[in-house]
Amino acid sequence: MESESKLLIKNIYKIFGDRPEAALKLVTDGINKQTLLEQHNHVLALNNINLEVSTGKFQVVMGLSGSGKSTLIRHVNRLIEPTAGSIFFHDDDVTNLDEKQLRYFRRFRTSMVFQNFALLPHRTVLENISYGLVIQKQVKKILMDRSLEWLNRVGLDGYNDYYPTQLSGGMQQRVGLARALATDAEILLMDEPFSALDPLIREEMQDVLINLQNELKKTIIFITHDLDEALRIGDKVAILKDGEIIQNGSPEEIILNPANEYVTDFTKNINRGRILTIGAIIEDAVLENAIKIDKKITLEAALRTINEEGSQFANVVDNSRVIGSVSQKTIINAITSGTEVN
Ligand SMILES: Nc1ncnc2c1ncn2[C@@H]1O[C@H](COP(=O)(O)OP(=O)(O)OP(=O)(O)O)[C@@H](O)[C@H]1O
Ligand SMILES: [Mg+2]
Repeated sequence: MESESKLLIKNIYKIFGDRPEAALKLVTDGINKQTLLEQHNHVLALNNINLEVSTGKFQVVMGLSGSGKSTLIRHVNRLIEPTAGSIFFHDDDVTNLDEKQLRYFRRFRTSMVFQNFALLPHRTVLENISYGLVIQKQVKKILMDRSLEWLNRVGLDGYNDYYPTQLSGGMQQRVGLARALATDAEILLMDEPFSALDPLIREEMQDVLINLQNELKKTIIFITHDLDEALRIGDKVAILKDGEIIQNGSPEEIILNPANEYVTDFTKNINRGRILTIGAIIEDAVLENAIKIDKKITLEAALRTINEEGSQFANVVDNSRVIGSVSQKTIINAITSGTEVN
């Protein structure tokens, strides 16, 4: 039944406290996080989490501080054991792996990238990148070749023998990324990896990751508390509140069809023009002699093109086939207001 190619998080509950099992009963009977804490001194960190991440997809989990993000991601490689529920990866029940299987799973099938980089201070850049490969007991030649390859791919050629403290934050996280990718694990777990970086460097690192992912197609779980970042990089964004997933959808679904007021409030100040793509507001009519724009470009880019061409309309193409049209007016509406579109 669980044989589809995916990571499946199923009915996960996590309660911190002395008697989590007893508290679980109260939770399934409907007690909320606040009452459980005040009256029973237990913390409901995750409340019946269900999440399915297809192989090769980029899943973002977004939420405020304390919403359960770190607790959730640390369940995937069982740094935290669930109070109840299961996690499957392909055909494996991760929650049932024995010690030896779990060690293998952590070393070969998952990699982590941390907010504080977590580099080894007394090891060089190259030694840090090769760390996971050493743990995997790879032979010297593979270890060296792969480490140098990843040093190059994250743009750190020449820094082989530098130490972490001699690097900027952005460069340190490039090392963190290279270390995680060098082991060729299938699942990449990233807990706020860019939150410690300046805005411009942060965007630069998002681009590095997006470009790598376009080629590598890892299964990624990426934690952030920044909605702009979430919508910019995720195939899907799950919004976590008080240990519950309020909504999980594509960036466009989150913006265009927020599940409730909480999500609406979050998305209010988002730059829609930079996130929504033309495909979301397309109309059926095909126009004669109109310019063509691709359905995957952002509203902002489309508006620019239409203006530059001195036009007010454009046909929309999908893989060079015309599938409909948009007008300058609908684009502006979609950017500036919360009006329902498609
Ligand atoms: N070891 C622990 N013991 C008790 N409570 C814990 C423990 N770890 C986490 N919690 C609680 O579980 C809830 C979720 O914490 P978690 O660290 O997952 O949040 P987060 O979303 O990652 O927050 P942040 O954005 O601040 O990193 C919080 O209420 C926290 O106090
Ligand atoms: Mg956290």
